[in-house]
Amino acid sequence: MSRATVSAPSNIAFVKYWGARDRQRALPYHPSISMTLETCRSLTTVEVRDDAGGDEVWLAAEGGELAPAPAEFARRVLGHLDALRQELGLAGADAPRFRVATRNSFPAAAGLASSASGFAALACAVARALGRSPDPAELSLLARASGSGSAARSVLGGFVEWPADGDPAAPATQLAPAAHWPLVDLIAILDPGPKAVSSLEGHRRAPTSPHFAARLAAVPERLGEVRQAIRDRDLAALGPILERDAIELHAVAMTSEPPIFYWLPATLQVLAAVRELRREGIAAFSTMDAGANVHVICERGDEATVADRLAALSPVRRILHDRAGDGPRLEEGSLL
Ligand code: PMV
Repeated sequence: MSRATVSAPSNIAFVKYWGARDRQRALPYHPSISMTLETCRSLTTVEVRDDAGGDEVWLAAEGGELAPAPAEFARRVLGHLDALRQELGLAGADAPRFRVATRNSFPAAAGLASSASGFAALACAVARALGRSPDPAELSLLARASGSGSAARSVLGGFVEWPADGDPAAPATQLAPAAHWPLVDLIAILDPGPKAVSSLEGHRRAPTSPHFAARLAAVPERLGEVRQAIRDRDLAALGPILERDAIELHAVAMTSEPPIFYWLPATLQVLAAVRELRREGIAAFSTMDAGANVHVICERGDEATVADRLAALSPVRRILHDRAGDGPRLEEGSLL
């Protein structure tokens, strides 16, 4: 029997993907840029079945035992397996079936891009279990076939752009490796539970916001500034842009039809604490994905000070320490 175990990282976007022309194929309206993380990862084993059984999906909650995956989770994984068979030219009655087991190192579906790490890991593990070695561009397209656009960026390490302007179906590419700029991401967990509205639904509603067109118009200049700030390792230039982009995403979400409120009162409390840190001369900047939790980006030298300040806020349940990371890797052992 052939199997492979892969761990793939989550990522945090500096210019975020929000709004899809085609959600099934994850075709965005505009490019996005992210930093691949190191510690927030999904570990996935894929086994090619050698019996007559169908696809099977197992999930272990953070720190828990493997169990049959809940229906909604299994539905998305099974959909991705079908898409992968299609992309890999394996459709048909005798196409391979898989047993899949996965575990996250962090709370899933709480705005920490568990879909990015999960589907990147699944795409890589399926390809390897079938004895294939796709290059990063092919892997990016295989990961995106899940319908998760951020997964297209998680197959590469460091700083990654998913271009999408000329050709909305283009794969992600690396702007710089992680070693170029070892930025820190401190993730303040305020609500570890699953979010009420999926990002897939958010992508559908985004164009209904009157602010969507304004964000779309601002993105091209923003992308250029972010690329330059990454090249120059210039957090004073990057920070205000990534903070603004996150706030604009949430403004679009809050004004879409019907509105989506991912923030909690505690989210605003963390944002205020980060602004206070800046008034004290510490370069720390906030960003949020489709959830209430806040990612605080800073340099390594400020990590302890920023973490202490966040930990002192009463609604902060836990802080995950993450940093720029290298992308997916094959792992020894197996979850199955
Ligand atoms: O990859 P999706 O479809 O779950 O969308 C991700 C959306 C954000 O995380 C909010 C932004 C991004 O670019 O990662």
